[in-house]
Amino acid sequence: MSLIIKSERLYCKYNSSEVLTNISFGVEGGEFIGLIGPNGSGKSTLVKIILGIITPSEGAISLFGKDLSVFSDWHKIGYVPQKIVSFNPYFPASVKEVVSLGTLSKKKFPKSISKADADAVHRTMEFMGILDIEHRLIGELSGGQLQKALIAKALVSEPELLILDEPTSSLDPETRENFYSILSELNQKKGITVVLVTHDIWSIGKYASKLLYIDKKILFYDRFENMKDFFASNMQWRDTCQG
Ligand SMILES: Nc1ncnc2c1ncn2[C@@H]1O[C@H](COP(=O)(O)OP(=O)(O)O)[C@@H](O)[C@H]1O
Ligand SMILES: [Mg+2]
Repeated sequence: MSLIIKSERLYCKYNSSEVLTNISFGVEGGEFIGLIGPNGSGKSTLVKIILGIITPSEGAISLFGKDLSVFSDWHKIGYVPQKIVSFNPYFPASVKEVVSLGTLSKKKFPKSISKADADAVHRTMEFMGILDIEHRLIGELSGGQLQKALIAKALVSEPELLILDEPTSSLDPETRENFYSILSELNQKKGITVVLVTHDIWSIGKYASKLLYIDKKILFYDRFENMKDFFASNMQWRDTCQG
């Protein structure tokens, strides 16, 4: 099976301090990867390197079999960032308008919404269970609703790979479980490859096919079941990953 993400000997530095060291791993199509690790362990940095937002100091990434330098099929990738800084919560846009923005990634100028796009927006909102709030302003939504709207925006162009950076940190436990089952469904029914950055290792073990545990370097990359052996030999785990 060809790899959706291939990372080879990645290193990353901010100023002079090394944040990622010798990161090599591969993600196959259809996998659900839980990317875990303590605060400051380099998870967001790794995600941003994968997305070409940050350039590593050494090493290489390929996406869908193409080196990042020549990769251009960005519509195949949906990304939900950790910090929602791309719009002001009081920005006067409705749920539907925000989700519609997700259709623009495939296009060159002029960017406008076709009938097919409008249908995709409708279907995706329906799938995410937010059709009833399509006209609400995004600033008025609860954390869970906003999260669903942002995922709908990432999903509307039917990505093959979905990367989410701590999307559940502002959700209550029930909404969080609900959210995980939506991701699980996307993964299992639509075959979307998922990379989910989370602190929530206990829950994510139930949904992810593999855990990638990093702390600057890779400490563990394997199936959740095999984590027990890792626990037995790494007591530091308990202190670092309870957040
Ligand atoms: N733009 C930046 N400039 C300098 N240091 C940064 C920057 N972004 C992150 N860092 C540092 O790099 C380390 C890894 O950060 P990050 O990738 O955000 O970790 P995580 O997502 O696992 O919490 C942290 O020590 C953080 O303070
Ligand atoms: Mg982070």
